[in-house]
Amino acid sequence: METSKLKTADAPESKEAGELAATIAGGEPFTMVGRGALVDLGRMVRAVLTFDIPGDLVECGVWRGGASFLMADLLRRAEATDRKVWLFDSFEGLPPPRPVDGPAALAYVQNTDSPDYYDNCRASLEEVRRTAAELGVAAYTEVIKGWFEQTLPLFRERLGPIAILRIDGDWYSSVRCCLENLLDQVVEGGLVVVDDYYAFDGCRLAVHEFFSERQLTYALESVTGLPAD
Ligand SMILES: C[S@@+](CC[C@H](N)C(=O)[O-])C[C@H]1O[C@@H](n2cnc3c(N)ncnc32)[C@H](O)[C@@H]1O
Repeated sequence: METSKLKTADAPESKEAGELAATIAGGEPFTMVGRGALVDLGRMVRAVLTFDIPGDLVECGVWRGGASFLMADLLRRAEATDRKVWLFDSFEGLPPPRPVDGPAALAYVQNTDSPDYYDNCRASLEEVRRTAAELGVAAYTEVIKGWFEQTLPLFRERLGPIAILRIDGDWYSSVRCCLENLLDQVVEGGLVVVDDYYAFDGCRLAVHEFFSERQLTYALESVTGLPAD
């Protein structure tokens, strides 16, 4: 876990570190993604901008939008007006898990009193739009409501090249759907984040099955240690 990498209260070592801390502080109240993973996400966006890796940034499974807002705020600070962040979500919460998703997924939906239940990850589209406006990143975001199975085939052409694809849909069918529809559009040098790889069996299965079917040999890298932060 890399939770102590960057604390907003620490004196920033540089202007860039200070900006990243401020960006994270803006998005953090609206995300369940841990601090270490947010820091890494920020660094990925910076790398895409620094090395001029073409394409938009996409998050599938945004909940209240915080991780997407972090990406959008870094675009805003860099005045990267030729790019935006696409936010895909049902805004109706998670679909029901299936046995393939594994015991942790099945336990999650039964444990509705858990502080990690978050009303089955249900968030409000209006709230996400409002927060984007309040954080000053509305012009850098495009929010698409609906089930991935319907929205991704419809929007993938409009999306074009993808520099960062952040998949955070938890279950097997959602993760597979994102890979099937969007992975081919991730450009050379682009980055793919699979948030739930260490959390849920079905997510891992979707990745391995898809890679195996397509004979993809991409190396997986844990950016936050085991389990994912
Ligand atoms: C764990 S939450 C995402 C967390 C978020 N990335 C954050 O920063 O806190 C999972 C999200 O995926 C969405 N989701 C999962 N499967 C989906 C599907 N098939 N279609 C649309 N949305 C889906 C849920 O609505 C939920 O908001």
